[in-house]
Amino acid sequence: MPQIFPKKVNVLPHLSLGAVLFGSVLTIFALWYYFSPEYTDVGYAPEQPVPYSHRLHVDQLGMDCRYCHNWVEVSDWSNVPPTETCMNCHGIVKTESLALLPVRESWATGESVEWVKVHHLPDYAQFSHAVHVNSGVGCETCHGRVDEMEVVRQVEPLSMGWCLECHREPELYLRPNEEVTTMGYVQPADFVERNLERIRTQGIQPPTNCSACHY
Ligand code: HEC
Ligand code: HEC
Ligand code: HEC
Ligand code: HEC
Ligand code: HEC
Repeated sequence: MPQIFPKKVNVLPHLSLGAVLFGSVLTIFALWYYFSPEYTDVGYAPEQPVPYSHRLHVDQLGMDCRYCHNWVEVSDWSNVPPTETCMNCHGIVKTESLALLPVRESWATGESVEWVKVHHLPDYAQFSHAVHVNSGVGCETCHGRVDEMEVVRQVEPLSMGWCLECHREPELYLRPNEEVTTMGYVQPADFVERNLERIRTQGIQPPTNCSACHY
C-alpha cells in the first residue's frame, strides 16, 4: 500500500503543540508585562529634592494649578514652575525653612531645582496638554486628586489602551472648561447629554488612528 502522506507529516502535531505552548507562554509573559505596576508605573512617586506638598499649596492655600503650571493651556508641555514662582512667596514666607534650602540655593546660583519627573510617555507617543485641557479634559481625570497628595503619585497607567478608552467615548469624561483644574469635580446628572451636545457643536473628535499618536 503506497503511503499517501510522507512520513515527515507525523511530526506536525508535535510541532503545533509546541507552538501552542510557546504561544501561551508568550501571552502570559505579555499580560504580566503589560499589567505589572512597573510597566504601567501606577503608584510611582519618586522622592523630590524639596518636600513640596500639593496638599498644602492647593488644598490648604487654595492655589490654582495654573499659578505654577502656567503653560498647560498653551503648550504640549505642562511646565514645572521656575524657582522665581516659589520665591514670590518664599522670599517672604518661611525664609529660614530648612526644607526650602534647595530653593534658596537655586535662587542664589540660578541653577534650577532638580525636580524628578513623575509621568513619562515614550518618545514615540505624541501628547499635548493644551489640546486636552482646552477640550475640557480635567487634570483630575488623568492625574487624580493632586490636591490630596503630599508627594505626587501616578494614578493612571497612561497606556495606549487607557488613552483609547477615552478617545472612543469622550462624552463620559469631558467637563466645562472653567472646571478643568477643579479637584473633586462632581458631574451634573445630565453630563453625558451636555457633552454629546458640546462634541457635536465644537466638532470634538479624539483620534483613534495610529498616526495621530505615532509619527
Ligand atoms: C505652588 C506651585 C504649584 C501649584 C499651585 C501646583 N503645582 Fe503641580 N507641581 C509643582 C512642582 C514644584 C512640581 C514638581 C515637584 C513634584 O512633583 O512634587 C509639580 C508637579 C506636578 C505633577 C507631576 C509632574 C511630573 O513630573 O510628571 C503634576 C501632575 C502636577 N504637579 C499637577 C498639578 C495640579 C493638577 C495642580 C492643581 C490642582 C497643581 N499641580 C498645582 C508646583 C505646583
Ligand atoms: C502663594 C504663596 C506660595 C507660593 C507661590 C509657594 N508657596 Fe510654599 N508655602 C507657602 C505657605 C503660606 C506655606 C506654609 C507656611 C506655614 O506652614 O505657615 C508654604 C510652605 C512650604 C513648604 C514647607 C516649609 C516648611 O518648612 O514647613 C515648602 C517645602 C514649600 N512651601 C515649597 C514651595 C515650593 C517648592 C514652591 C514653588 C514651586 C512654593 N512653595 C510656592 C506659600 C507659597
Ligand atoms: C488627557 C490626560 C491629561 C490631562 C487632562 C492632563 N495631563 Fe498632565 N500629563 C499627562 C501625561 C500623559 C503626561 C506625561 C507627558 C509626557 O511624558 O510627555 C503629563 C505630564 C504632566 C506634567 C509634567 C510635565 C510634562 O508636560 O510632561 C505636569 C506638570 C502635568 N502633567 C500637569 C498637568 C496639569 C496641571 C493639568 C491640568 C491643567 C494636566 N496635567 C492635565 C496627561 C494629562
Ligand atoms: C479623558 C479623555 C482623554 C484621555 C484620557 C486622552 N485623550 Fe487625547 N484627546 C481627548 C480629546 C477630548 C481630544 C480633542 C479632540 C478634538 O479636539 O477634536 C484629544 C485629542 C488628542 C490628540 C489629537 C491632538 C491634536 O493635535 O489634534 C492626540 C494625539 C491625543 N489626544 C493623544 C492622547 C494620548 C497619547 C493619550 C494618552 C496618554 C490621550 N490622548 C488621552 C481626550 C482624551
Ligand atoms: C490615542 C493615542 C494612540 C493611538 C490612536 C494609538 N496609540 Fe499606540 N501607543 C500610545 C501610547 C501612549 C503608547 C505608550 C504606552 C505605554 O508607554 O504604556 C503606545 C504604544 C504603542 C506600541 C508599543 C507597544 C505597547 O503597547 O506599549 C505600539 C506597537 C503601538 N502603540 C501601536 C499602535 C498602533 C498599531 C495603533 C493603531 C491601531 C496605535 N498604536 C494607536 C498611544 C496611541
